Amino acid sequence: MKLRNWCAILAVSATVTSVAVAQPDFPPSPNARVAPRLVEAMNAAQLQHLKLWYAGKSKNWDLANFELRQLTDSMAQAAIFYPGVPVSNVTTMKDPLLSVADAITAGDGKKFAASMRGLTDGCNACHTSMERGFITIGIPTDQRAPANQIFTPPGKH
Ligand code: HEC
Repeated sequence: MKLRNWCAILAVSATVTSVAVAQPDFPPSPNARVAPRLVEAMNAAQLQHLKLWYAGKSKNWDLANFELRQLTDSMAQAAIFYPGVPVSNVTTMKDPLLSVADAITAGDGKKFAASMRGLTDGCNACHTSMERGFITIGIPTDQRAPANQIFTPPGKH
């Protein structure tokens, strides 16, 4: 599925709560009915955001594309599984996610960095509006990437 279409799912799934998150490549067993806790989805989002950044920085656009899809799903999950999360807070993430998608498609490092800043502002705006302003996400600058994953594209390791 094209990345832009994937991102568009976010808007649909956020507004129609009966529509599940886009069918994943590895769907869970139908017996697995336990929704993850919201903090688990958010902890996943944090790692996806970090990996997305390093993949883009390393110009591994395939990996960036993959991480953006995961992050988009985490955001959609927050809207679908948690009625306490205002849907409008999630749909405002759509444009920043699409902007990152466009930068990835264009392979444009500068646009990628700028769009990641916009996306990160979106994370923090929702935290603030939900009395979680003490959870502040930033662009990874001097931190190390998760040391057990190689971010450069295959063949350039
Ligand atoms: C639609 C609202 C919303 C958006 C958008 C959102 N979050 Fe959250 N996030 C929350 C809420 C609410 C909590 C606190 C959950 C709780 O108190 O159980 C949270 C908690 C967190 C936590 C703390 C988890 C922990 O256990 O320490 C992290 C990290 C986090 N979010 C990362 C992100 C990242 C990264 C993004 C953007 C890519 C993001 N969030 C976007 C609503 C949002």
